[in-house]
Amino acid sequence: MASYTIGNVNIDYVIEAARAASLRAYAPYSNFRVGAAIMTLSGAVQIGCNVENASYGLAICAERNAVARMIVETANADERRIRLVAILSPDAAPCFPCGACRQVLHEFGCQEIVVLDASENPMRYPFSEILPHAFGPEDL
Ligand code: THU
Repeated sequence: MASYTIGNVNIDYVIEAARAASLRAYAPYSNFRVGAAIMTLSGAVQIGCNVENASYGLAICAERNAVARMIVETANADERRIRLVAILSPDAAPCFPCGACRQVLHEFGCQEIVVLDASENPMRYPFSEILPHAFGPEDL
């Protein structure tokens, strides 16, 4: 597999974490598995996968589940700030975060998203490009 860096930080481990998470997805209704791996400012990784339900509207996205895990597993402020999130869907790629997830990622200062396309090339987007003019904690 190719190796990917941002500045001098290698993000292979983040992408691999997203891939592992996607394989844990509970997606029996859509068969659309998604894994998300958050890299925090401290360099820690927190993962999430989508979790669906027989009551379809209750499905929760991988990205928001990764945020929930970040919060419950950490107390240190830098471990609750999102440097980037990698999103990988092995069934259909690329998978960009839905609107609700964009808003939740913004809450924790997400700086960048990385989505993997079908040929597994990571495509990087500054967060301000995927959620321009965002409303967030700084507005209150
Ligand atoms: N899904 C995610 O987990 N993340 C996204 O960014 C888009 C959609 C999930 C929700 C649902 O389980 C399935 O993908 C199909 O919408």
